[in-house]
Amino acid sequence: MNSNLQKEKTDLLRRAVEVIEKSCLEQIWQAGLRRDPKNYHITVMYPPLKAMDQISEGTIFTDFQNISREFALYIHIPFCSGRCSFCYFHQIEKPKPKIILDYLEAIKKEIRLVSQKIKEQLDGITIPSIFFGGGSPTILSGDQFADLIEYIEKQFAFSAQTEITVEVHPEIIRKNGRALLKRYFENQVNRLNLGVQSFDDQILRTTNRRHTAADAVDVYNLARETGFTNVNIDLLYPLPDLSPWIWEQTLIAAFNLKPESVTTYFTAIRKPSSVYHLLQKAPARFPNEYMNHLFRIMTIEKAREEGYDHRQLIDWFVKPRKDFHYKHQKNEAKKTEEIQLLSFGSGVFTYLNYHQYYNFPDIRKYCASLNENKLPIWRGIKLTEEERLARAMVLGIKSGDVNIREIEERFNQKIDERYDSLLLNLEKLELLEKTNGNIRLSEKGILFADEIAVQFITPDMQNKLRQQNELITSEQELIENYNFMYDMSELNFLK
Ligand SMILES: C[S@@+](CC[C@H](N)C(=O)[O-])C[C@H]1O[C@@H](n2cnc3c(N)ncnc32)[C@H](O)[C@@H]1O
Ligand code: SF4
Repeated sequence: MNSNLQKEKTDLLRRAVEVIEKSCLEQIWQAGLRRDPKNYHITVMYPPLKAMDQISEGTIFTDFQNISREFALYIHIPFCSGRCSFCYFHQIEKPKPKIILDYLEAIKKEIRLVSQKIKEQLDGITIPSIFFGGGSPTILSGDQFADLIEYIEKQFAFSAQTEITVEVHPEIIRKNGRALLKRYFENQVNRLNLGVQSFDDQILRTTNRRHTAADAVDVYNLARETGFTNVNIDLLYPLPDLSPWIWEQTLIAAFNLKPESVTTYFTAIRKPSSVYHLLQKAPARFPNEYMNHLFRIMTIEKAREEGYDHRQLIDWFVKPRKDFHYKHQKNEAKKTEEIQLLSFGSGVFTYLNYHQYYNFPDIRKYCASLNENKLPIWRGIKLTEEERLARAMVLGIKSGDVNIREIEERFNQKIDERYDSLLLNLEKLELLEKTNGNIRLSEKGILFADEIAVQFITPDMQNKLRQQNELITSEQELIENYNFMYDMSELNFLK
């Protein structure tokens, strides 16, 4: 039992402690799987930036071997009104109007160039989802947003069935919130993603969120008033000074609003963020590994109690509703090769034609490249069949279950033979269950989804990551800063 838990236990906390006690965490930790915010690899893509090489647009956009015609679009707006203490994402604080205008011109050009290149290769493409993320897309004015979405529609004819999501920062309630949400609604946006993170005002203050819990509730109500029927709330843990009691209050506040879904992110504490430095100076202000598991279990228990299903690529809890598809997350979760991911903007990654590539994170380089009519591709790689198989396993395991039959057919490999000792070890630790044609993470396994997914990285990729670690190039610092996952020096493999 953790000594920090001596205070009175609520019913939720008592249940979560019971689950955690049954999970034999120590045994799993000893086997080598650890969940530590400093070494946390958010498994949303594979392979990682560090493994990317120089690549030309010609190699990516010619001779399409992946002829899937479904494209999920991601549009990145890298601007914010300030810097939250936990955020390591590339963004520009308080951008000057001219920077925004230049960026919008550049992103439009990127959208046009890419759509032309794709149409030269494939006809009849469809767009199941478009996601405007950031940074804070809400930094754009209503007119700027309307102009951008109109432009996207000209290049990629989407339909009324396309799910269009915008990430909304609650701060808009004190500015142009009402007008902005109305503009989104009129411009075909049918899903909002509210970045709330916490419903505790003290935590919101110390993390420099620039809004209060009441603001978040107000913006949620305004979204409903405007007509939005699909709203997601993002929450984040661990944060400094977060206790199980504060976390429970945050969960209660979020589920009381009855959103269509709640997403809880596990904070990756990375060098570019100020919480990284706070953690070095005052580790006692941060929950320990046991507590972090406890927060996760509390969330799963609370969501279950409220009747939400758990989808695991990210911890995403959805209200089961027949008429909603939650396409973007479904696409993300699927991550198979049937849906290609096209991302636009600085620092984003795309999965297209069996290539993964990254755009320049530096917005000046990004705009300069497009000024010369060149795609702003920074680094990329063509995945071999071996790496495509690893990608399917890594992302599939992270999503909670893998359709083995489908993968075996696609790659002509016997998964049991290919990963025999690894699967055996995971089964012995009761982290994984095999049913006919499927591999599923067990209840215990779900607690270590990212750490288990990492085990499926190929030996070749591990070597590549090791070599890159030793490389000293002028771009090394940039790569280190933007390589948020799979740093070989930090990876834990099963002992
Ligand atoms: C990139 S942010 C953009 C959202 C928007 N700017 C906002 O803050 O409302 C998307 C989500 O990532 C999550 N996030 C932010 N920092 C994170 C970190 N260090 N580790 C994991 N997730 C994080 C937050 O939950 C956030 O809502
Ligand atoms: S969490 Fe969102 S608002 Fe805060 S700095 Fe990061 S991108 Fe900007």
